[in-house]
Amino acid sequence: MYTLEDLNKDKLPKHVAIIMDGNGRWAKERGKLRVFGHENGAEAVRRTVDSCVKLEIPFLTLYAFSTENWNRPKMEVDTLMKLLVTALKKELQNLQEKNIRLKAIGKIDSLPKKVYKELTEVISKTEKNTGMTVTLALSYGSREEIKTAVQEIAVKVKNNIISPENIDEDVINTHLYAHFLPDVDLLIRTSGECRISNFLLWQIAYAELYFIDVFWPDFNEQHLVEAILSYQNRERRFGKTSEQLN
Ligand code: FPP
Repeated sequence: MYTLEDLNKDKLPKHVAIIMDGNGRWAKERGKLRVFGHENGAEAVRRTVDSCVKLEIPFLTLYAFSTENWNRPKMEVDTLMKLLVTALKKELQNLQEKNIRLKAIGKIDSLPKKVYKELTEVISKTEKNTGMTVTLALSYGSREEIKTAVQEIAVKVKNNIISPENIDEDVINTHLYAHFLPDVDLLIRTSGECRISNFLLWQIAYAELYFIDVFWPDFNEQHLVEAILSYQNRERRFGKTSEQLN
């Protein structure tokens, strides 16, 4: 059994991103509706945020709803949206007490009005908080994010605001939804699937990937510690050799 104390505090990931997968299968195993899995998944979100606060991890990004998730049965989409509104209402005080800034990435204007309103309200109320930044990826797809950035840059080129030679990585980054986030250091996916599923493709260029065979509603502090320990035991070379790093 590992605890938070086992981690090297000088080598913590600055940005942890999580693909929270397996809510449906977790519920099915218990003979319940998928929605029950999402409700318990929301509890796992709360626990994970609390653990990251204790560890003082500056950035946590959660894949809560992808552009592809709109294709799920209407009842499931509606329930997920309701769950979001409830969670946002319920968590505001907790976010304030823990000095957490809430942000969102994705096509958030495509969310139902109620969700959009609650989300933007919590974002603006927590805007000045200086602790951890929790970012929800909502109606998010990485290719869509990149496509939108390319369109915005193309318009600027057309209007002579920027010249093609000056389009560098920083320019591209500033046009992404996630422009306020540093690169991902550690990407965790639960449920045993080893896929990225269109999540933060630009930002994970040098991320360490960690796949764990546990459904999201069961994910706890112990699992998070194990993921970070694995991260701390890896050598991040960013294209250099081991000798160069030493
Ligand atoms: C993946 O499990 C999970 C989702 C698509 C939704 C994630 C939502 C939550 C964790 C709850 C609400 C979130 C917040 C931020 C309060 P799945 O349904 O794809 O599971 P399956 O692969 O087993 O079907």
